Amino acid sequence: MGTVNVIDHPLIAHKLTLMRRKETSTKNFRQLLDEISMLMAYEVLRDFPVQPVDIETPLEATTGNVIDGKKVVLVPILRAGTGILEGMLRVVPGARVGHIGLYRQPKTLVAVEYYFKMPDELHERDIVVIDPMLATGNTARAAIERIKELAPRSIKFVCLLTCPEGIEGLHRAPPDVPIYTAAIDRELDEHGYIRPGLGDAGDRIFGTR
Ligand code: URA
Repeated sequence: MGTVNVIDHPLIAHKLTLMRRKETSTKNFRQLLDEISMLMAYEVLRDFPVQPVDIETPLEATTGNVIDGKKVVLVPILRAGTGILEGMLRVVPGARVGHIGLYRQPKTLVAVEYYFKMPDELHERDIVVIDPMLATGNTARAAIERIKELAPRSIKFVCLLTCPEGIEGLHRAPPDVPIYTAAIDRELDEHGYIRPGLGDAGDRIFGTR
């Protein structure tokens, strides 16, 4: 069973509460998601391995640490995942970006893939899959199973909100990846929405309905 890390910070709780409010505008929703994503990236990368490097400051030679291995890969699940991407890239500007397009069939909520593009040499890279809402877990699990076929060095999953059903759905064998979230809500409703939630994240990010 993978772990669930709730990134519990007053700034994140405050911004998330503003995002949940139905009267929050598209512009503010996007801005808040961007800010939360930056804060979350900091925690998600906390245990990334570093390697020592010899450098010279203007005064003397010393040894510093840099992140080990090839560049991290951020993988937004289209389309809502792109709402988290910009904020994370601001903290990890050298990251590579893969994309995976999956949609949930409205009746069955089963994930169907329509786009998949990853950087090369994934076996030497750490992957961070991003999607704001971990609801049934079907889409996230399908994305992770697909990425696992390319044998990356590690995989983490980052969302803004989840619920017990989403965690259970993602952690159902075989994908066993750590989840990072800003909150675990009460439940999934019969339409596949997280309650109390914040509504449809993609629609709120892009101003569609
Ligand atoms: N996707 C969303 O955008 N919102 C939910 O509540 C669940 C899935």
